[in-house]
Amino acid sequence: MERLVIISNRVAEIGEKTQIGGLAVGIADALSRGEGLWVGWNGAVSGPGEDPATSRKQHEAITTLTFSLTEEEHENYYLGFSNRVLWPSFHYRLDLIEFSEAFAKAYSSVNKRFARTAFPELKSDDLVWVHDYHLIPVAQELRKLGSRHRIGFFLHIPFPSAEIFSAVPRHEWLRECLFQFDLIGFQTNRDLENFRLYLAEHADVEFISDNLIKAAGRIIRLGAFPIGIDVEQFAAMANKVDDAVELERMRRDILGRIQMISADRLDYSKGLPERTRAFLEFLNAYPEYRGFAEYLQIASPTREDVLAYTEIRTELEQLSGAVNGKFAEFNWSPVQYINRSIPRDKLACLFHASRIGLITPLRDGMNLVAKEYIAAQPADDPGVLILSKFAGAAEQLEEALIVNPYDAGEVAGAIRRAVTMPLEERQNRQRKLLDRIKTTDAHWWQTTFLEALGHAPYVSTQST
Ligand code: G6P
Repeated sequence: MERLVIISNRVAEIGEKTQIGGLAVGIADALSRGEGLWVGWNGAVSGPGEDPATSRKQHEAITTLTFSLTEEEHENYYLGFSNRVLWPSFHYRLDLIEFSEAFAKAYSSVNKRFARTAFPELKSDDLVWVHDYHLIPVAQELRKLGSRHRIGFFLHIPFPSAEIFSAVPRHEWLRECLFQFDLIGFQTNRDLENFRLYLAEHADVEFISDNLIKAAGRIIRLGAFPIGIDVEQFAAMANKVDDAVELERMRRDILGRIQMISADRLDYSKGLPERTRAFLEFLNAYPEYRGFAEYLQIASPTREDVLAYTEIRTELEQLSGAVNGKFAEFNWSPVQYINRSIPRDKLACLFHASRIGLITPLRDGMNLVAKEYIAAQPADDPGVLILSKFAGAAEQLEEALIVNPYDAGEVAGAIRRAVTMPLEERQNRQRKLLDRIKTTDAHWWQTTFLEALGHAPYVSTQST
């Protein structure tokens, strides 16, 4: 089997238990397949004059090669082009774009740095798999260094509609960079379709078949590969009794209370204020649940140096405070708000003990929390997943209660439906959902992607 080389902006601590975020969780699961090298940023910023040297670590068959970013790189490449231009625009928030020439320059030069770090490590038959929006130009940089490897790209976030993508500063350049990959993978069919429509309108491309194009003199394969989780592993964590969670669940049972849960990075794309408003709507519309329904909102801090993130946090905190102020009793608070990262095993137990999983992003590439919530449910008395139609996961998880996150009344109605759903219906839905996340799990994701990459119509003489 060829060795797998992963290049991603962030390299997770292998075995680290606190991460929420599709990419790190998904890749860590996928890498368990065999020998692998993972190259990327270590999450640290080196001060002026400090050495951002690479460090190599071995974790059984996986080697990680990581380095820090300089302050300038962090500011302009990570916080700048990646998270003030690409992230908001790919999530349909053109209003939040803050573009500057310095951002584009740093994005290009940091991608060069990633390629220069990885290239000397590559063996001739390695498969190279590049992840996410931070690293679109990496293949082009590797090709410039002489790489003839098969290089695949997977976009973890949505690919927006043609009109939105054509508004992204430097989209023509990003598109040409993408043409240097042999396989371009998306989360959903909708993303793939958006990309094809964008190409049809804006690029000089020959469409050979549904999943093959010819562009820049190269043949490139396209595909949708919905990312999954390691279902068994997550279910095992959920079934391990955490005493504090169990005690709290028993207390709720005695009092006849129901817990609803959500867990996200505190990102404006996740629809947290909208969700809190929907819960407020629920308490207004169905007063009989006052004193009985509790919403546990876990919102872990993220990208706090970007203004849009501090603003969304302030909005959410004011709103949660307002809902509690309006409805709380001395012995009951409707919203429990946690602004910290929670270890994954604890989260699994909390999902297990929650009657409703409320996952309502305004836009999301996939949303693995939705899949984790399903994996964590007890078979005899499962909870109900309420899922936004704008999460990539909605393309697969049809048996969830699918909602429009912008419509507070509709979400409130779905909460009410979930609370009153008969056991048999809950079990039926759970069985089907569980089947779906098992057949397209983390292992399926990485094998189908890598098989497609292995079979990409690569010609060693592809012009570069
Ligand atoms: C999303 C992105 C990932 C990113 C993660 C955490 O899942 O698709 O690429 O790593 O968020 O965000 P951060 O900016 O902390 O890496």
